[in-house]
Amino acid sequence: MTEFSDKVNITICGGGNGAHTLAGISSLVPNACVTVVDVFENEAERWTNALANYGFTVRFSKDVMLHQKPGKVKFRVTNDVESVVPHSDILIICVPAYTHEIYLNLISPYVPETCPVVGMPGQPGFEYQALTILQEHGRKCKVMSIETLPWACRISKYGQEVDVVGTKEEVCYTLIDKLSKGNPSKRLDPVSVLQTILGKKPQLAKEENMLKYTFLCRPTIHPPIMYARWKNWDGKPLDKPPLFYQGVDEDSVRYMDGVTDESVKIAAAVTEIFPSMDFSGVSTMQEWLLDHYTDQITNKQTLLTCLQTNKAYDGLLHPTTKTADGKYVPDFTYRYIREDVPYGLIVVRQIADFVGVETPVIDEIILWAQEKLGKQFIQHGKLCKLDRTDGRLPMTYGINTIEDFFNFFK
Ligand code: NAI
Repeated sequence: MTEFSDKVNITICGGGNGAHTLAGISSLVPNACVTVVDVFENEAERWTNALANYGFTVRFSKDVMLHQKPGKVKFRVTNDVESVVPHSDILIICVPAYTHEIYLNLISPYVPETCPVVGMPGQPGFEYQALTILQEHGRKCKVMSIETLPWACRISKYGQEVDVVGTKEEVCYTLIDKLSKGNPSKRLDPVSVLQTILGKKPQLAKEENMLKYTFLCRPTIHPPIMYARWKNWDGKPLDKPPLFYQGVDEDSVRYMDGVTDESVKIAAAVTEIFPSMDFSGVSTMQEWLLDHYTDQITNKQTLLTCLQTNKAYDGLLHPTTKTADGKYVPDFTYRYIREDVPYGLIVVRQIADFVGVETPVIDEIILWAQEKLGKQFIQHGKLCKLDRTDGRLPMTYGINTIEDFFNFFK
């Protein structure tokens, strides 16, 4: 394992699957001093108690695991933002995008100007949201956004054990220096800190084109699968939750391809306005899967077979809740819709508007999802104005044209 040459104070915000994995892995890097800040309900207390009683395990497979014994765990968990954040060398927000606003508002009064703020993952629009909130508090930090979580992971026992079912080969990131420009103070390089934590896989790859990055975040994966599976659901509870990726059918694949084709069309329309702009990598879903899970897919023939035979997706289920009589109903408030539509598809939809591309498939899915979420994102074929807490629509942050989008980061 690589190490930090000097002590690095790493603050992780969050308490879900990703935060568990990140805390377990990063705390074992020599010279890392890791604190998890978790303000959600009583998670900090539950997690702290679990560490004291059982220690902490990140399990990669039956035989490969990182275990820290009770009393020897090298990170702590707290809900005390004020006492931890001012001492951070790097701050990593690792929660679904619909809670980014909560953490950004909490940390912004205290985050040191030398401390980069990282969205891991950021998801579409993290950069303009974080820059806006940090700037409102007079902060001068760098903002980094990582395309996706490096791992597919699930907590098996809260505060105690997390399973890593897959690790990506490469993930891209953006790094924005807009607020800290001209400030000569010594700053930590967030990229090398994160690469040290992650080890060999995944490799972090810089993306300069902010708009391309929005597409690379792929908010186009979960909503089409949810839509295809549940659009005609008769409301009857099921005996067991269906497989999420491995349970896809031709209909799901049709919607996934439809949404991705529209993204490719939007990228082509932007290139007509800015011919030198690179959108390579805004590719089909199948190409994306083969890039990210190269060794884990056994049948690479079609998008359907790639989804069905990707080991990283083994056993992952549709989000459901249990009924009183032990059956299952879909959970439409899970992040697959609650995050990927207001913090994903609607961002893509507004960019399509900017460049005059029609998006009938994306619209069809948004219209279904907004009803499930009890929100209104589109009305009479047009995007509605939203509050910041309802989603990360560019216009909510004063970005009203494609030119505004690029100028925002200068
Ligand atoms: P998660 O679903 O485990 O996150 C739940 C956690 O979010 C809660 O435990 C809580 O700590 C926090 N939270 C929820 N509501 C909150 C609130 N109102 N206030 C404060 N905190 C709140 O999410 P997970 O799996 O850790 O994912 C994190 C990010 O990584 C998401 O953007 C997700 O889409 C992305 N991702 C996750 C993957 C995975 O395998 N888990 C794979 C690829 C991406």
